[in-house]
Amino acid sequence: MSTERTNDEKEALFLDQKLRPGRWDEYVGQEHIKENLHILLSAAAERRHPPEHLLFYGPPGLGKTTLAHLIAKEMGAQMKSTSGPAIEKVGDLASILTNLSPGDVLFIDEIHRLNKMVEEVLYPAMESGVLDIIIGKGPSARTIQLELPPFTLIAATTRIALLSSPLRSRFSGGVFRLEFYTEEEIACIVRRSAEILGVALTEGAEQEIAQRSRFTPRTANYFLKRARDFAQVRKRPLDEIAVKEALRLLEIDEIGLGSPDRKLLEVLIEKFEGGPAGLGTLSAATSEETATIEEVYEPYLIQLGLLERTPRGRTATKKAYEHLGFPYSKGGQEKLLVG
Ligand SMILES: Nc1ncnc2c1ncn2[C@@H]1O[C@H](COP(=O)(O)OP(=O)(O)O)[C@@H](O)[C@H]1O
Ligand SMILES: [Mg+2]
Repeated sequence: MSTERTNDEKEALFLDQKLRPGRWDEYVGQEHIKENLHILLSAAAERRHPPEHLLFYGPPGLGKTTLAHLIAKEMGAQMKSTSGPAIEKVGDLASILTNLSPGDVLFIDEIHRLNKMVEEVLYPAMESGVLDIIIGKGPSARTIQLELPPFTLIAATTRIALLSSPLRSRFSGGVFRLEFYTEEEIACIVRRSAEILGVALTEGAEQEIAQRSRFTPRTANYFLKRARDFAQVRKRPLDEIAVKEALRLLEIDEIGLGSPDRKLLEVLIEKFEGGPAGLGTLSAATSEETATIEEVYEPYLIQLGLLERTPRGRTATKKAYEHLGFPYSKGGQEKLLVG
């Protein structure tokens, strides 16, 4: 897999940093998670001990990394960031762990991509705060234990199903699922972002962005920036029409679907009579990676009720047929039942 970033990705990263909430009151929504974290952090502070390990999961752009930053800040702790694929060898993890200072936060993004050997070393570190090091080889090999400074591991993943249950169970502070945002919450985020970027936009523009941004803050911020560029170049106010035009150029439709989302549904409907079709089959037919389909496209399509995951594969719903303008027939399904 290539690690080169495209210009779009670089821009998104830059925007993420610039617009990342630095205080709890700027972090909109996810009330359930915030309440739980408040209790956990307050209790830990009273005990004068770092909070227990935490895992956040959910689709990209919903605010997992931001939560990790906010927690570290509230703890007055230093945060060291790494990611599953960056920790290639056991030695890499050992060096990260032994370099922690007491009370540090260790943030591991994409923890589902940690390899098994590294994972094994992480278990005792999370559970008992020790690092098992094997010295020597063969029959004379022995294990020594190093005591680690107390620390809090915060991990994030878009693919909770890929985490082994022993790993999952070691997040004793809690495993939290981030939810999609409401349109009102997204509008609120867009308003704050516009202020930071020094962009004046109408309420209609705000609404239009909120409706199309996949209930996802990162997408909303990205659309805001695109619409701002459009208005600037066309020398026009940033209103509803400017947003519509800017997003039309990006091939984003009224409900926020991009061309890959529509392609996925079209393939399902046209080639597979609406499904069920397996993930691998869909991946081959659309030339999209299975991971991207599962992490990026499906959650939103499922949230909108356009796609369903069944034990036999993915199916397109009646709503998907209607949205794409295909006549709806349950033919495929009925044939299966009769035949
Ligand atoms: N709850 C929120 N309130 C305001 N802005 C948010 C919120 N969650 C995310 N964002 C914005 O979206 C961007 C992406 O969030 P991030 O934490 O990087 O997502 P993730 O790690 O889940 O992919 C952040 O930089 C921030 O600007
Ligand atoms: Mg992140």
